[in-house]
Amino acid sequence: MKYVILTHGGVAAPQNGADSCARAADEALGALDAGGEALAAAIAATARLEDDPRFNAGTGSNLRLDGRTIEMDAAVMASDGRFGAVACVERVKNPVLVAAKVMETPHLIIAGAGATAFARRLGFADHDPVTEAARERHGRALAALRGDGGDSDYTNDAARFHALTATRFWNFDAEPVECDTVGAVVRDTHGRFAAAASTGGSTYSLRGRVGDVPLMGAGIYAGPHGAVAATGVGEEIARRLLARTVYDWLADGVAPARAAQRGVAMFPDVIAVGVLVVGRNGQAIASNRNMPSAQLAG
Ligand code: GLY
Repeated sequence: MKYVILTHGGVAAPQNGADSCARAADEALGALDAGGEALAAAIAATARLEDDPRFNAGTGSNLRLDGRTIEMDAAVMASDGRFGAVACVERVKNPVLVAAKVMETPHLIIAGAGATAFARRLGFADHDPVTEAARERHGRALAALRGDGGDSDYTNDAARFHALTATRFWNFDAEPVECDTVGAVVRDTHGRFAAAASTGGSTYSLRGRVGDVPLMGAGIYAGPHGAVAATGVGEEIARRLLARTVYDWLADGVAPARAAQRGVAMFPDVIAVGVLVVGRNGQAIASNRNMPSAQLAG
């Protein structure tokens, strides 16, 4: 069987990030060439994507609404059912590598301070993922939240309190949430599948918010029929259990291209969403916005 590697830098991420997706796919191929299985390849690709500060994952992740905190989610899954995830992990360079370690525990998900402590215990160094670009995004996001599109300096307590309590007043129209996630799906030459994903969460996130990525079947899923990785507004993806739904179509014999299109079509146009899909008989990438991506097969 031929291998397939698909990578993405997140729906609505800058299209010039496609070069990084290609390098991430190369990294995955390197892992396969070194004898790694699909899971190792998906993890290698996703870790590479986390290191690109243009993407909302790892270094470059979104700040929470408090303007100080970055909390990251990541997950990995193999077609034999192994799954590991971290939610709201802080100050690590590659959350996907921590998620991979969760697979070695009896647990599926480790969250919050426990996830960060777990990472430290395993030797993951302290790393500040905040970038100037993330600060700038946060400033624009707050300006939009307050309805004054201008420059913003909302670091005082009153503004923060407003931002943290304003969700019931949100009145954004198209694309209210710039939300992207990096990820990869892989089929190796033995027919094993894997998916991995990592994110800094949505632009308007309260502290402690958990998106789709660490929820099995929402952001990623893998099984004997294929692997799926999603990107977009996490709450909407989770409501539709997108990755598992698309996977179930593959299991029913739906072609990957059709399954990917049907997955994206589950969402109204105002919700940005994208999927990577690989099955036994093909692969597909679909999204309703620009989505930098890459694929390798051979
Ligand atoms: N899809 C990433 C998130 O909403 O957290």
